[in-house]
Amino acid sequence: MKVLVTGAKGMLGRDLCPIFEDAGMFVIETDKENLDITDEKAVEEFITNVKPQMIVHLAAYTNVDGAESDPETADLINHKGAKNLALAAKKADALLIYVSTDYVFDGLKTTPYLPNDPANPQSVYGKTKFLGEEAVRQNAEKYYIARTSWLYGIHGKNFIETMLNLAAHEKELKVVNDQTGSPTYTVDLALGILKLLNKPFGTYHVSGEGETTWYDFAREIFALEGIEANLAPTSTEDYVKNQNKKIAQRPKYSTLQNSVPMRDWKEALKSYLEYRKSLEQTSGGTL
Ligand SMILES: NC(=O)c1ccc[n+]([C@@H]2O[C@H](COP(=O)([O-])OP(=O)(O)OC[C@H]3O[C@@H](n4cnc5c(N)ncnc54)[C@H](OP(=O)(O)O)[C@@H]3O)[C@@H](O)[C@H]2O)c1
Repeated sequence: MKVLVTGAKGMLGRDLCPIFEDAGMFVIETDKENLDITDEKAVEEFITNVKPQMIVHLAAYTNVDGAESDPETADLINHKGAKNLALAAKKADALLIYVSTDYVFDGLKTTPYLPNDPANPQSVYGKTKFLGEEAVRQNAEKYYIARTSWLYGIHGKNFIETMLNLAAHEKELKVVNDQTGSPTYTVDLALGILKLLNKPFGTYHVSGEGETTWYDFAREIFALEGIEANLAPTSTEDYVKNQNKKIAQRPKYSTLQNSVPMRDWKEALKSYLEYRKSLEQTSGGTL
């Protein structure tokens, strides 16, 4: 099967492309420099020429706080970009996979969100990703929307690396303890998306199994690494007060009820840390 991936150079793309190749697919990787998803005509032409059977649309504006000060760019990439892909997928009769986010929910629930729970995004990022979802539902004929959460992978800036880096500099770490969700390893998400392909087209949830707070996530990272970090819990309110930039509102609770079997988030974290260690050893200690 010929598969076109957008945002292939991003954190998820760099893990997903080889996993899809291992699953027997012929993957065509695209990113900003060879396929700008905001250019409707370019998207249509590219897809008409390449004729993929499947499009995995990962390209996005992912700076959640940055989007608060630049809603136009976030909308152009996350909403208009998704619409361009949906229209082109329909024209090419290709299956479209769109990766979305737990931030489409307002976080007022106290039990895991189901795929058909009403969305009520509270941030610019969440709103533009939800508009992207709607554009896919309205314009594509064959599609899967895969919502995920708290994503981390070896090829991107992520929470785990931030924690390890700050701890290495013996900084005092205050991490919020009043947001609950599910950390998701990019490798597990890519494998989870493959599992969706047996299901009817529609909207699904694919994230690490189980839930935690950012504070307990940090605690688990340090426990597994045997690091005694100077870590303390804080509230979102205090955290936001101490920042000198706009901080997007995040859901207090955004655990997703998984649509496919997924690995427990702690197991996935262990596997990420082991992989990271093996890379460190081969690169002589610098990651
Ligand atoms: N990260 C998370 O915690 C999280 C959580 C839930 C859902 N998601 C979703 O998962 C997907 C993958 O996320 P990720 O963390 O892998 O994101 P990422 O690392 O930011 O990768 C996104 C890629 O898209 C590219 N891109 C941006 N604008 C583009 C454009 N106009 N045309 C083509 N490519 C463009 C980016 O290039 P530049 O870097 O050069 O801009 C980057 O290579 C996204 O759809 C995201 O919304 C992420």
